Amino acid sequence: MRRISLVIMFLVGILGGCTPRTEADKFVDDLMSQMTLREKIGQMSQFAPSTGVVTGPQGEQIDVRTMVKSGEIGSILNLKTPQEIEEMQRLAVDSSRLGIPILFGHDIIHGCKVIFPINLASSCSWNVEAIRKSAELAAYEASAMGISWTFSPMCDISADPRWGRVSEGSGEDPFLAARISAAMVEGYQGADLADSSTIMACVKHFAAYGAPEAGRDYNTVDMSERMFRDRYLPPYKAALEAGAATAMTSFNDFDALPASGNEWLLKTLLRDELGFDGFVVSDYRAVTEMIKHGVAADAKDAAFLAMRACLDMDMVSGSYLSHGEALVKEGLIPEKEIDRMCRNILMAKYRLGLFEDPFRYGGAERYAEAIYRDETLDVAREIARESMVLLKNDGVLPLDDAKEIALIGPFLSSPRAMLGSWTAFRDYDRTVTVDEGFKARFPGRVHVVKGCEAFAEVSGGVNEAVRAAKNADVAVLVLGFPGELSGEAASMTTVELPECQKKLLAAVKATGKPVVVILTTGRPMALESVIDNIDALLLAWHPGTMGGHAIADLVSGDYSPSGHLTMSFPRCDGQIPIRYNHKNTGRPADGIGLRTPGSRKIYQSCYLMTPNSPLYPFGYGLSYTEFVYDSLEVMTPAVHQGEPVRVRVRVTNVGSMDAATVAQLYLRDMVASTTRPVRELKGFRRIFLKSGESQEIEFTLTPDDLSFCRADMKFAQESGDFKVWVGDNSDALLESAFTVL
Ligand code: BGC
Repeated sequence: MRRISLVIMFLVGILGGCTPRTEADKFVDDLMSQMTLREKIGQMSQFAPSTGVVTGPQGEQIDVRTMVKSGEIGSILNLKTPQEIEEMQRLAVDSSRLGIPILFGHDIIHGCKVIFPINLASSCSWNVEAIRKSAELAAYEASAMGISWTFSPMCDISADPRWGRVSEGSGEDPFLAARISAAMVEGYQGADLADSSTIMACVKHFAAYGAPEAGRDYNTVDMSERMFRDRYLPPYKAALEAGAATAMTSFNDFDALPASGNEWLLKTLLRDELGFDGFVVSDYRAVTEMIKHGVAADAKDAAFLAMRACLDMDMVSGSYLSHGEALVKEGLIPEKEIDRMCRNILMAKYRLGLFEDPFRYGGAERYAEAIYRDETLDVAREIARESMVLLKNDGVLPLDDAKEIALIGPFLSSPRAMLGSWTAFRDYDRTVTVDEGFKARFPGRVHVVKGCEAFAEVSGGVNEAVRAAKNADVAVLVLGFPGELSGEAASMTTVELPECQKKLLAAVKATGKPVVVILTTGRPMALESVIDNIDALLLAWHPGTMGGHAIADLVSGDYSPSGHLTMSFPRCDGQIPIRYNHKNTGRPADGIGLRTPGSRKIYQSCYLMTPNSPLYPFGYGLSYTEFVYDSLEVMTPAVHQGEPVRVRVRVTNVGSMDAATVAQLYLRDMVASTTRPVRELKGFRRIFLKSGESQEIEFTLTPDDLSFCRADMKFAQESGDFKVWVGDNSDALLESAFTVL
């Protein structure tokens, strides 16, 4: 009955012949006029089934199902099965007074059933269209489970591999991350949120969560507004401009105010300046965490700060439901503010089409059709291949002639090492591990030995590995970090290879057999101390469901590696954080920047004993073929402000294999009103060239590409000279220049 009346209200809106916006407004206005204050605050409350116990108005403890029935929940996150989702939705629409459907959220951040490579890996493909496609396919599977909202994309820039959550982002560069973040929103949301195979995106974690002090998760973030605007804001902004329906606050404080109560972030910047008109959800219990941050005395105070900052939905803390009514009654929060926030959430439900049909997602038949489709598996394999980065190759790879392969290491048979973090709906038995991939591609030629655990030796393991290597033509070691060491709450103080793995590697190298290392990791690693023991190094990341096949595709030479790093690989821990787009300082170091004892390189900005430069720079990645860049030409050597700059370059595949590469354009603003990075990525193109083929590429730099947060705090251009480099990594040497008049 309740459901029928909501559908009738919906149809009346449509048949009234209004514009779509007015229909939605009218529908939501009508609905809200029937809602009690508690029901409105209920819409602003999200719970996870395991944590859904809140204190009611009379101090009573209420569980999630009771709250759903009494219309006190707007959204539920982390339900585990399509059946649970359907059951909860039925409870909401059939048993609550107004039958308002629930929003079901989940972290579908790199795939749902089919897991794509971790986000940091996919970013190394620089294939923005493939990333968009993977988000679309993830939404297709997720929506079939009944999920209508994903907490993705993560738009946090970071140059600190100690922070485990670098695995969820797109690396250290704002220009690339902005394009990827926008593409992910487009992939999840499609052209129309009302399409039942699209889901809402959520721009997170707003803001600057990727810059925690010392790389420790949840730690304080403090930086100038200028630095924030230049380096951290672009991906959030791009994702919002792409139409993201929701945003999530971050756990950290920012300029001494926790994000969930930060009016500057949530009102001044997000709503007023960026024009965001969707709804904002807090991160998990981030509202009441403001008590521990020391800016709220208790949960009521925390709810007040968050509501005052216009945080529309409280994730899990329960503080809105427990204290929202009192805050209104005491005149601390005006009821019209509650109306505004509740309205933002109901509007999202309207856009999704949930009022028309709360069960439009899911259903057993659709689920069976949607998951593990061939297309999804093919895209997962392709993007995994494109995400991997060949970091070193002394000619050992590809392995096509090798007769016997000793496959060694702790992660060979580990599905988890293929998947990484945030994979709630994964199936280990559908995940292709490295040994399975190798055995399928090199049948009868693979001898598998574990050698050691990730962090511990196993008795006799090294000897067994050495014996296997001696009996083989080549040793392939799969080393690195296990999947569970990336993601949230996984900060590390060293990103060097664990000692037991170093020992295993050294022993295998001592056999004299060629050594290939396949690195599984969710973060850049510091490899200088072991790099001489490695003849070829393929960075596989955590490559997803099809990881084992994708690795074999590259190792065999069926395809050439084509990924390029989106985070610098440091030489050692002490260099962290490290980024290519650093400032010059007043005392820049000569060359690679290294002061050895007795050297005259003193009073320069460098380290004793260790160069400034990373082991592998941003943008770096080798191939089985060779690409030559030449004929760089700025076609517009002098432009006025507001005019585009056009740059042309020729790329030729001079090797013998057809392959893809990523052409990258970097700029430097030579003299500006603020200090500027030594180089900044401002253009890229992933191209595929047949052996011997050449292609001319043209880049157009827009006035925005040349703009930055000037000394006067305006985002705008300045006149002056610029240098430009084009090549296949951030150290590219091919150089030209132009002037903005
Ligand atoms: C994470 C978010 C995530 C949320 C819901 C939090 O712990 O920081 O990224 O979306 O949980 O699972």
